[in-house]
Amino acid sequence: MTTSRTLYLFCSAAPPVFDVARVIEEAQTDGWDLCLGLTPSAARWLEDSLDGLAALTGHPVRADYKRSGEPDVWPKADVILFAPATFNSINAWGLGLTNSFVVGVVAEGIGKGIRTVTMPCVNAAYVQHPQFEQSVATLRAAGVTVLYGEGGFAPNQPGQRRPEGYPWRLALDAVGAA
Ligand SMILES: Cc1cc2nc3c(=O)[nH]c(=O)nc-3n(C[C@H](O)[C@H](O)[C@H](O)COP(=O)(O)O)c2cc1C
Repeated sequence: MTTSRTLYLFCSAAPPVFDVARVIEEAQTDGWDLCLGLTPSAARWLEDSLDGLAALTGHPVRADYKRSGEPDVWPKADVILFAPATFNSINAWGLGLTNSFVVGVVAEGIGKGIRTVTMPCVNAAYVQHPQFEQSVATLRAAGVTVLYGEGGFAPNQPGQRRPEGYPWRLALDAVGAA
């Protein structure tokens, strides 16, 4: 297996985050050296699995900013995939609100020219909030690949899961093409 390319996988607190171990293995089979970053909420959801996920990736799982002066513990990213991306995280990113470590990295990543793909996980009620379309448009205009709508994630009804599940393979294929 070639592991010369580094992928940061960033997840926020939506149910597909529970697939993350399988998705990491799939990405590793695709040849990625993967580092896992989580929002604080996603880290709470996965708190019993964090040690196992660190062992699986071979890197610390990060959910917090490092302290000033601490060294970087991850190799530099070639590509970032932010998925699942919640309504909250997409809007924070679009608005440039970097309270969470992973949103801070992708916000800076725009300026650093790091190729970044995101796939929201949002229901049909969230997307009617006027900020959501604006955040998606802002991120697309900044060069982020947003897999939403035609050819990407289609919103589910509130409280329901899509029978075909979250389209992780679509996201991994977009990362491979990035
Ligand atoms: C069971 C459960 C399922 C949720 N599913 C979603 C979801 O699919 N999409 C979403 O945007 N928020 C969802 N939320 C709400 C987010 O977890 C919440 O807004 C959280 O603050 C997101 O924070 P984060 O973006 O920092 O991870 C869900 C919450 C719960 C408790």
